[in-house]
Amino acid sequence: MGAKILSIAAHVPEKIMTNKDFEKIVDTSDEWITTRTGIKERHIAGENEFTSTLATEAAKKALERANVDPKELDMIVVASATHDYWFPATACIVQANIGAENAACFDVEAACPGFVYVLEIGRGLLSLPNYNKILVIGAETLTKITDYTDRTTCVLFGDGAGAAVLEKSEEDHFLGSYLKGNGKLGDLLILPACGTRKRCSEEVVKNHEHYLKMQGREVFKHAVVGMQEAALKALENAGIKPSEVDWLVAHQANKRIIDATRERLGLPEEKVYINIDKYGNTSSASIPIALNEMYEKGLLKRGQILVLDAFGAGFIYGAIVIRW
Ligand code: UT7
Repeated sequence: MGAKILSIAAHVPEKIMTNKDFEKIVDTSDEWITTRTGIKERHIAGENEFTSTLATEAAKKALERANVDPKELDMIVVASATHDYWFPATACIVQANIGAENAACFDVEAACPGFVYVLEIGRGLLSLPNYNKILVIGAETLTKITDYTDRTTCVLFGDGAGAAVLEKSEEDHFLGSYLKGNGKLGDLLILPACGTRKRCSEEVVKNHEHYLKMQGREVFKHAVVGMQEAALKALENAGIKPSEVDWLVAHQANKRIIDATRERLGLPEEKVYINIDKYGNTSSASIPIALNEMYEKGLLKRGQILVLDAFGAGFIYGAIVIRW
């Protein structure tokens, strides 16, 4: 027995911030942001919009598209680096919001590759006898941990959520994967305080240590290498040649990183989906938001081979090859 993706959906907040808006708050320019990252605008959660709010909307849409009743779900897994609380899990808030009363629920913190991770976990659970339908979600409100006085990070991030319903199936649509970690480099992309190691305090807030910090240039170098390695190894594990790939759907952190990955795989530009211009970096939500757009535009066809590929804090990186 294997598994397949029944549906994909996404939800983003209404409010949009453009590069021009950032020119008013930090020393930056539309030209710098566009050429260095590919970002033009990003969606920003309102005061009363939380990670669970976005996740719930994406989940409802995914269930509707799959024609699955929430009560049929056996498990809900939410990947996020910006959970509503330390606990309870955001997945449990979603469970209550959608009325999935028969489902178990838990969260995964796997940063930007979170959606790749929850697909791998969902696929694994569906190989067990007691799981038939699983809802996996990547959801973030990164702008709530973004320092709007730091131009090196604040222009990069946006908010959003994407969800997929997975079902056990006779034909396995999960063809191969490759997940890897390098914890030695964790300090290069970190939220340094308000954990148990360095608890929240006035001092922490004064020093802006409750916001994410990134050594962008260093992360960039490792991301290029990690994304390429993950995609190539996952394809090797799946027994599929790069030339057989229909779509590379990569984590949208920087257009230049995606271009480098595409070149290494020898893929033409039309086989890579890029929407970073509209959303910025939405971490674990970026791949399902891209998949949802592709679905809505009619670009995804059953039987196509997709490589989902991501890199992020940890460091962790990974790719999964699926037959849509
Ligand atoms: O999602 C998880 C993984 N994250 C990533 O993969 C992100 C990886 N990193 C990146 O995408 C890029 O490194 C950034 C987009 C973050 C930065 O681009 P870069 O080409 O690596 O720029 P840089 O950090 O080397 O900075 C170049 C210059 C610096 O000025 P000096 O030192 O050369 O005078 C920065 O201070 O650009 C300056 N700079 C800015 N200038 C205008 C940095 N941020 C900005 C800004 N506007 N927003």
